[in-house]
Amino acid sequence: MTAGSTNLAILGLQWGDEGKGKLVDLLSARFQNVTRFQGGNNAGHTVVVNGQSIALHQVPSGALHPGCFLVVGSGVVLNLEVFLKELENLRSRGFDLGGRLLISDRAHVILPHHIALDQWREGGSVKIGTTGRGIGPAYEMKAARKGIRMGDLLHPKTLAERIQLGYEEVKILLGGSSALPPLETITADLVRLSQPLLPLIGNAQEYLWKAWQGGESILFEGAQATLLDIDHGTYPYVTSSNCSIGGLFTGTGLPPKALDHVLGVAKAYTTRVGSGPMPSELLDATGERLRQVGREFGTTTGRPRRCGWFDAVITRHACRTNGADGLGIMKLDVMDGFAEVGMVVGYRDGAGGVGTQLPACASDWDEIQPVVKLFKGWTAPTRGITDAKDLPAEARHYLAALCDEVETPMAYLSTGPDRAEGYVPAGSFLEPLLK
Ligand code: IMP
Repeated sequence: MTAGSTNLAILGLQWGDEGKGKLVDLLSARFQNVTRFQGGNNAGHTVVVNGQSIALHQVPSGALHPGCFLVVGSGVVLNLEVFLKELENLRSRGFDLGGRLLISDRAHVILPHHIALDQWREGGSVKIGTTGRGIGPAYEMKAARKGIRMGDLLHPKTLAERIQLGYEEVKILLGGSSALPPLETITADLVRLSQPLLPLIGNAQEYLWKAWQGGESILFEGAQATLLDIDHGTYPYVTSSNCSIGGLFTGTGLPPKALDHVLGVAKAYTTRVGSGPMPSELLDATGERLRQVGREFGTTTGRPRRCGWFDAVITRHACRTNGADGLGIMKLDVMDGFAEVGMVVGYRDGAGGVGTQLPACASDWDEIQPVVKLFKGWTAPTRGITDAKDLPAEARHYLAALCDEVETPMAYLSTGPDRAEGYVPAGSFLEPLLK
C-alpha cells in the first residue's frame, strides 16, 4: 500500500473514544486529503501541539499538517459557532486553514432550537445520555426535510422561511418550558456567523471524486463508533448518524470502490458514555482502576466513562459490519499490573443460552449476562513498548486471543498516549504507511 493511491477509513469499533484521534494524527500527514463524513460537535479529541493541547470537535484532523486538504462532508451536522472557535483556536496557534478547507454545501447546520430540544428531552425521565449538542434534532430535521444546509447560507433571504419550518414545531413541543431565542435572532445570528465560512462552502462530492480520480489519497475520519450507529448500534442508545462504513459513502457521495482499506479502532478494554447496554461494565474497583489509569473522562462533556473488560462480541460485530482489514488496539498499557484480565466472549440470555449475536431490542439487552474469559495478567509494564518482542508473554497471549475472537488481525498497537508509544506489527497492512 502506498499513500499516493490508497484511501483509508478509520472507524471506531466500540462506543466511541477508542483513541481514533491518535491514529488519525499519525496517519494524516501521509494523506493529501482528510474528510469527516458524519457526526458533529458531539465528537472530540485533543491534539497536542508544542506542549499546548487543542480540542477538535468538527474540524477534520489533519488540520495540523499543512499539506493536508480538509473536507467536511455532506453527512456532517455543524455548529457554526463552535466551528469558528475551532478555526480561531487553530489560527492563533499558527495553523491557518485558509485555502485548504472545504465544507459541503449539503452538510446540515445545528440550530439553537435543536440544542434546546435535545436538552429538554434529556431533562425528562428517559434519557439517552446525549452530549446535549443538538445532534439528534439536527438529523431529525434533515430526515424531516426541514433542515438548513450550508448551501442555504448562500441565500440569506430565504433563510428565515426555511428555519421557521422546524422552529415552530420545536416551539410547540417545548411550550413555555424553554426560552427559545426569537426566530429573527436565530436567523440574524446565523447570517452573521456564516460570513467567514461562505467562501469555504462548495460541492464536496465533486471535489472528492476528482481527488480520487486524480490519484490523490483520502483519509476518511470516522466520529463516534459502530455501537453508536443508528442502524447497527445498541438502538435506541445510539447517536443519530451512521458511524459505521455505510455512513462514509452517504456522507461523502463517493462509491464503495473509492475505499481501499478499513482500519477499525478499539481499546484493549471497553468504555461507554451515556446510557444503554454495556454487558462488560465493571461497577467495582477494577472498573474504577481502568477509569483512573486510562483517564476515562469525556473530551466533549467531561463525563466519567463507564469501563469494563474488552467485549469481543460487540467488537466482532463491528469488525464484520465495517469489513475491517485490521485492528488498531489502543491503551494496552492501561491494563498493566492486573493479576487477571477478562474478556467478554459470549452473552448468556435470559433462558441460559450462550450466543455471540447482538440482541436487537433494548429489553433483550437487559437480560444479557456476559460470559467472561479470564487471562493471566502481566506485571512488567507495556507502556511505551515499540516492538512485539518486548511485550510480556501474557500480554502477547491476551492480544492473540483478542484478535482471534474478533476474527481480525492486529494492524497497530498503542502502548501510551505519545505518538512514539506503539508499533505496527510485521505483516500489518499499515506497514507501508507507518514504518
Ligand atoms: P448524541 O450524539 O449527542 O445524540 O448522543 C447519543 C449517544 O452517543 C450518547 O450516549 C453519547 O454519549 C454518545 N456519543 C456521542 N458522541 C460521542 C463520542 O464522540 N464519543 C463517545 N460517545 C459519544
